[in-house]
Amino acid sequence: MNKKLEILAEKRQKAMEGGGLARIESQHKKGKLTARERLHFLLDEGSFQEIGMLVSHRSTDFGMEKEKYPGDGVVTGYGTVNGRLVYVFSQDFTVFGGSLSETHAEKICRIMDLALKNGAPVIGLNDSGGARIQEGVVSLGGYADIFYRNTMASGVVPQLSAIMGPCAGGAVYSPAITDFILMVEHTSYMFVTGPSVVKTVTHEVVSSEELGGANTHATKSGVTHFACSNEIDALQHLKKLLSYMPQNCEERAPTLPYEPGNESRPALTDIMPLIASQPYDIREVIEEVLDENSFLEVHKEFAANIVVGFARLAGRSIGMVANQPAFLAGVLDIHSSQKAARFVRFCDSFNIPLLVFEDVPGFLPGTDQEWNAIITNGAKLLYAFCEATVPRITVITRKAYGGAYDVMNSKHIGADMNFAWPTAEIAVMGAKGAAEIIFKREISTAEDPEAKWREKEQQYADIFTNPYRAAERGFIDEVIEPAETRAKLIQAFKMLENKVVNNPRKKHGNIPL
Ligand code: HXC
Repeated sequence: MNKKLEILAEKRQKAMEGGGLARIESQHKKGKLTARERLHFLLDEGSFQEIGMLVSHRSTDFGMEKEKYPGDGVVTGYGTVNGRLVYVFSQDFTVFGGSLSETHAEKICRIMDLALKNGAPVIGLNDSGGARIQEGVVSLGGYADIFYRNTMASGVVPQLSAIMGPCAGGAVYSPAITDFILMVEHTSYMFVTGPSVVKTVTHEVVSSEELGGANTHATKSGVTHFACSNEIDALQHLKKLLSYMPQNCEERAPTLPYEPGNESRPALTDIMPLIASQPYDIREVIEEVLDENSFLEVHKEFAANIVVGFARLAGRSIGMVANQPAFLAGVLDIHSSQKAARFVRFCDSFNIPLLVFEDVPGFLPGTDQEWNAIITNGAKLLYAFCEATVPRITVITRKAYGGAYDVMNSKHIGADMNFAWPTAEIAVMGAKGAAEIIFKREISTAEDPEAKWREKEQQYADIFTNPYRAAERGFIDEVIEPAETRAKLIQAFKMLENKVVNNPRKKHGNIPL
């Protein structure tokens, strides 16, 4: 027995060493952790149970049969984060650059299959040179097996991807199908074709960082939801993100204990500027209304005219969507519609109630927006809200103009409650533009057209620049004082706790993509 135990210990030790001490040192020199170190920081101490530690590749070309490392470049298994089960894979760059072989792919598929059967999130820590070049098409097949599972698991269990190193070529499409992507500044990058191919094809000269680094994807493309300052920061973000989510689509997100207290928030009364065209930061409203320090903003650097993220209200997990008057006046455009639509669909998939703060002057005009399909992209957000069956509440703080009124979680498209502050303006458009169109003849033939325009603008504003027309119709359930917002929302979400809505049976809808 002792001899046999020695053999086992030796094999285990070899697996723990990955591609060897020299390569581990080189990984550290780049400011990167190893695959196992990352799991150590991610999972609760002692909770990790490895699966497939001794799996090795089957390749025989290019002398590969002589070069084998137990584990084959990916550490897979399960463990807990804050006591909750998660399945994990962590690619080991010290073994063939973390490249994906047939067996490496099989290991990832195995834990994805377990996650789907047992209803728990999958976390992927990606650090890979892509397809194992020595294996050819079997590696491509392995990727496709993963993509297929990512798609089957979408909406069933949360899937989170942290990019901790290279992620290039078709490999990017696995993270892209998952729910959230986190990247590490300066040590991770994602692109379909790297700088050298870009140079050959388009003659553009661009660095890896500029082409597909964390900041590029956080600000320009929106591919990543978080740009983290280092790996530990990324791992902490993963844990925090998980805390707002249920384990799977059949469950509710965990609720934190909450002691009811004085829910009045008088500071909200002073946030709104006196002049309606002046900006204010909607985050001030979010911070004041939701549980203290509970807001985790998602996609912070991308499409800043809409703010999305997770928060808690009286301990319950909430998905926040809010127009941001401090950036582009909170207008809806292509990127903000895409950003919010994807977030709304995530929350709806995983039973996370939606709260909307609305202050939107409408959709952004212009050729750039029209030619790049603001119609199709704006429709995504509309569609996402329409099909969402979770509890849904909107608070109109100021402008709710035009089509954007309908889109931003109005009751007409299935919201459960719409509140408005007394500062709300609910109309087809702003009073100035409206007066110009409907009183065009009167204004142009007046002795003093400017004065006539102002008079008509005032007339339109008196009728529509308030929440009361909408309240008379019942489109607004209650006009509330800003200070009452938190208390009203706590009550309303509690009232909606057991909401059940079944959309018509279908194979799946056809969201405008
Ligand atoms: C096999 C690989 C590998 C790969 C790296 N290695 N990539 N082995 N297959 N794809 C090995 C190297 O031989 C080296 O082995 C070790 O990993 C570290 O690589 P280095 O080049 O020394 O590291 P670094 O300088 O940090 O550069 C990392 C890299 C570079 C930028 C990722 O290795 C690289 O460009 N690799 C190839 C990337 C690529 O073209 N992949 C295929 C993409 S196509 P030793 O023994 O020296 O430690 C693809 C298609 C997917 O992925 C399609 C899905 C549908």
